Amino acid sequence: MRLDKFISNLWYGSRKQVAKYIWDEIISVNSEVIFQKDFEIKFWDIVSIWEENIEYKEFIYVILNKPTWYVSSKKPEWWHYSYIDLLHNCPYSEIIDIVWRLDFDTTWLLFLTNDGNLTHKIIHPKKDIFKKYYVLAEKSLNEKDIKKLENWVKIDDFITKPSIVEIISETEIYLSISEWKFHQVKKMLEAVWNKVLSLKRFAIANLELWDLKIWEWRYLKNEEINLLKNKLNN
Ligand code: URA
Repeated sequence: MRLDKFISNLWYGSRKQVAKYIWDEIISVNSEVIFQKDFEIKFWDIVSIWEENIEYKEFIYVILNKPTWYVSSKKPEWWHYSYIDLLHNCPYSEIIDIVWRLDFDTTWLLFLTNDGNLTHKIIHPKKDIFKKYYVLAEKSLNEKDIKKLENWVKIDDFITKPSIVEIISETEIYLSISEWKFHQVKKMLEAVWNKVLSLKRFAIANLELWDLKIWEWRYLKNEEINLLKNKLNN
């Protein structure tokens, strides 16, 4: 089989992208860099990309530690960059999609996958999957504000579902919400006459960044994927 066809069949990008990888000298066969996209490979050949041997993966699960100024769309918007630029050495960047976007000024956890079945389940409102945010508020949050956030607040024409608040300090909380509305956390803080100064997504269900640094991405571990799938199947 042709090298470019083999690689693109394994979800490493379109034939055009693979041609670029070949041009960039990052593809080798049996440890030798290959420059021809029509190079014929045999089943015993070991193909590697960025020195990593290629293995067939049908579904890809990635988490990314997003900094500010990056938008959750594949194309840059205005003077903001696209998150795709942060996945520059991820061969699957074009085929995975974000599950629950973040605003350009919200940071930390982005989860991306091409597993449509999992995405469908995780975003289903009945599943009540919690997203946990670190919130730094402009003003102190009193007991009444916390109660309101925990029970319900009205944002636009919509009443929020109960959420979980963990107090860190007078102006800092962890807020876990199970819904997904546009600018939901910012609007919830506005509903208690406050303002978000800094917003970071700490977790989605069992998924956390752990020691992943800002700007970096990693594949999910099998244990993390299995735990998430178990949660979704219950
Ligand atoms: N809520 C917001 O207001 N912004 C985000 O990016 C995510 C949740």
